[in-house]
Amino acid sequence: MSHIPTPHIEAKAGDFAKTVLMPGDPLRSKHIAETFLEDAVLVNNVRGVNGYTGTWKGKRVSVMASGMGMPAIGIYSYELFHFYDVENIIRIGTAGAMSQELKIRDIVLGMGACTDSDYAKQFQLPGTFAPIASYELLEKAVNALKAKGNVNYKVGNLYSSDVFYNDNARTTELWQKMGVLAVEMEAAALYMNAARCGKNALAICTVSDNLVTGEKTTSAERQSSFSDMVRIALEIA
Ligand code: HPA
Repeated sequence: MSHIPTPHIEAKAGDFAKTVLMPGDPLRSKHIAETFLEDAVLVNNVRGVNGYTGTWKGKRVSVMASGMGMPAIGIYSYELFHFYDVENIIRIGTAGAMSQELKIRDIVLGMGACTDSDYAKQFQLPGTFAPIASYELLEKAVNALKAKGNVNYKVGNLYSSDVFYNDNARTTELWQKMGVLAVEMEAAALYMNAARCGKNALAICTVSDNLVTGEKTTSAERQSSFSDMVRIALEIA
């Protein structure tokens, strides 16, 4: 394909598997490749955005970082879907809980993603688009979590925000009132790109902090709950 390599990915055609796991942090991508994948090969390192392809239980799977925020995941997911023929992107990230029922280390599966971003404007729709996960991936994730049995999880709405340090103190309370479970910064753009490209996406997030109760994870807790989430994502890949 003439657009390969892309401005942000130096991999060759066919270097990526059909399913790409996508953490925000490039070091997490490296860690997943080294810890979970067999025969992992580095296929991208533009801007230090580590991308690897290897196998897990015999299945070919890739992992590449998205960076933080919707502009970043918008670029990487579009290039993977559109130019590298990737079919499924599973975001594995952290989120801040807005629901009192969520404890740190719980998992949130983003069935939908509300947003304060203008990302959807480019589609010039005569209304408001509702970014949703792939039902197929979501169902597989739920089944994998049920089979695992020992992880608390909720399925529902995420809030994908452009702002980490929000000046508006009421933001959490207002989204919470609408039943939104947790805030992160990528899912909505990922879901919109999947819709635009006719592909599949799911965001799986572990709760790193609770914005209502103030509870926070230690880095050791983040690491172990992160591993649970990676196993779920690999299971459905
Ligand atoms: N805001 C946005 N993204 C996040 C947060 C948060 O509080 N916690 C983890 N990811």
